[in-house]
Amino acid sequence: MSEPTSDARTPGGTRLKRFVWLAGLLVVVVAVAAFGVTALLVNIFERRQEAREPFFRVVEITDDTVDPSIWGKNFPLQYDLYQRTVDMQRTRFGGSEAIPRTPTDADPRTEVARSRLELDPRLKRMWAGYPFAIDYREARGHAYMLEDQTFTQRHQVQQYGNCMACHSSAYVAYKQLGDGDIFKGFDIMNQMPYEEARQYVEHPVSCIDCHDPETMELRITRPAFIEGIQVAKAAEGVDDYDVHTMATRQEMRSFVCAQCHVEYYFKGEERRLTFPWHQGLKADEVLDYFDALDFADWTHAETGAPMIKVQHPEFETWSQGIHARSGVSCADCHMPYKRVGALKISDHQVRSPLLNINNSCQTCHRVPENELKERAENIQAKTIEMTDVSMGALIDLIDGIKAGQEGNLPETRLNEARMAQRRASFFIDWVESENSSGFHASQETARLLFKAMDYIRQGQVALAETEAEPEPEPVESE
Ligand code: HEC
Ligand code: HEC
Ligand code: HEC
Ligand code: HEC
Ligand code: HEC
Repeated sequence: MSEPTSDARTPGGTRLKRFVWLAGLLVVVVAVAAFGVTALLVNIFERRQEAREPFFRVVEITDDTVDPSIWGKNFPLQYDLYQRTVDMQRTRFGGSEAIPRTPTDADPRTEVARSRLELDPRLKRMWAGYPFAIDYREARGHAYMLEDQTFTQRHQVQQYGNCMACHSSAYVAYKQLGDGDIFKGFDIMNQMPYEEARQYVEHPVSCIDCHDPETMELRITRPAFIEGIQVAKAAEGVDDYDVHTMATRQEMRSFVCAQCHVEYYFKGEERRLTFPWHQGLKADEVLDYFDALDFADWTHAETGAPMIKVQHPEFETWSQGIHARSGVSCADCHMPYKRVGALKISDHQVRSPLLNINNSCQTCHRVPENELKERAENIQAKTIEMTDVSMGALIDLIDGIKAGQEGNLPETRLNEARMAQRRASFFIDWVESENSSGFHASQETARLLFKAMDYIRQGQVALAETEAEPEPEPVESE
């Protein structure tokens, strides 16, 4: 994990000069520190591109320090950027926009993100009978994750502590609940009513969730991912995968995000947060897994179909795309290096890379900014057109099943159509809830919508056959 990566853009000569310069700086720094009342500890850690950055341990940080403002005393630059995730700015298809709302006692938010149900009311029918049909909004910055979860209208249906893994700084809470064992604490919190679990957490995702406080190296703190990546690797033929010892540093730059930006479900009576990667990361493999278990998140209110809700499969989708294939990580685009004075740091203002094309894309693509933006939007516009067509077809299928129910078609035929609805809906939902509008893997996204259309066709054939029209007489060929 700590191998010094040689980089074409940082030739050895420059590095040496830099080192000499930094060494000089260190002497000064140490002298100043010795003068001070408090002894400042100068610490040095490895960096990917700029070799070394000195930092001061102004305050002690332990494996129990949840509050990011305390970490911020040692790392003011990263903390400042981290705080800027409150900013809301739209891009053509992504980013986020602040919609003013009148605060109430029940929900004190003065601003929320746009409602996706209002943007496309067909989603309500796609998810009829499930909490997502009540309230579903666009994602916004990390700073909002805990409050947006706390105040979503989806709580009209009882939610549980298993929600916490991805919306809060849950690592220390897991340790406390489990007497030092995060797996034990995770099991306990998963089963608590949401309101009870909420008392154990205070902050959105924080420094401690991604970093080892001693070394500042990236680390994984979420049991669901530790187990998920293990079963995913097993499906690829790698046994006993241990993310702590076997992941490369570049992989970790995606894995920290994949603790949350993934499809998930709650398994069994324990409501255990589980990543369904037992057969692989592809959408088809995830569906096969659910099918084999006969699993359903809910029963469709209009048709009675056994449904699955897909949520934000960014990691799985990215893994099927050209950038993952080329070794480009989430952090490369969403937390690119940023120059601050003489330092290069990782941009902790996690956001849409299209708001930051210069740092996010042009490091690799020597193409004008506007052209890169158009290349991305070109992929997105086509994905949205395809999604729109598939969504229309899905609504037709739902209407068809309803009509079939009213017309008392045989249950076997209806069930065939319901299974087609389940599968088509799964693939369309995969694309709909994946937050890059196709950018993370354009061909893969198109493939999924194509499969969805095929399931819709099969469902409609099943319904049509139930009309049991007599076979037309064979006609003599002209
Ligand atoms: C090659 C660059 C690249 C990589 C690698 C990448 N993304 Fe993205 N991501 C994008 C672009 C471009 C968008 C579209 C942003 C927009 O429409 O404004 C996006 C959108 C998103 C969004 C929605 C953001 C928004 O503002 O609407 C999320 C969340 C996201 N990506 C997470 C991830 C995760 C997690 C990974 C790794 C598993 C990842 N991305 C890998 C470029 C990248
Ligand atoms: C595996 C991680 C994970 C779990 C578990 C999880 N979320 Fe999320 N949630 C996310 C991510 C990532 C986003 C941002 C991307 C998006 O909105 O699609 C998000 C977005 C949201 C949002 C804002 C957008 C919206 O949907 O309106 C709400 C509200 C929300 N989640 C509520 C919940 C609730 C309630 C639970 C428990 C039932 C839950 N989440 C469990 C990862 C998770
Ligand atoms: C969602 C995960 C995540 C969170 C939360 C997070 N970081 Fe980071 N941080 C990263 C990633 C990714 C890198 C790049 C590490 C690498 O390349 O090895 C990084 C790098 C760093 C570095 C090394 C120098 C640099 O900028 O590249 C420091 C210092 C740092 N983070 C401090 C913080 C502090 C302080 C906080 C809390 C205010 C924080 N981080 C929160 C993911 C995170
Ligand atoms: C602890 C869970 C968690 C981790 C770890 C995490 N995210 Fe998120 N992320 C979320 C949630 C939840 C939201 C939505 C918050 C909301 O809408 O209130 C979100 C929102 C986002 C957005 C949308 C911002 C916008 O303005 O639309 C992007 C982009 C993003 N995350 C990328 C990443 C990347 C890249 C990483 C890894 C470096 C990462 N996230 C790590 C949970 C997480
Ligand atoms: C770390 C390097 C790196 C970064 C950062 C990066 N890319 Fe790429 N990108 C690649 C590579 C490698 C390919 C594969 C094609 C090739 O080898 O030239 C690629 C391919 C593409 C393609 C063609 C995709 C397709 O589906 O055919 C587009 C469009 C693209 N990148 C846009 C972007 C945008 C926009 C960003 C910033 C959000 C970005 N890239 C960031 C390395 C990168």
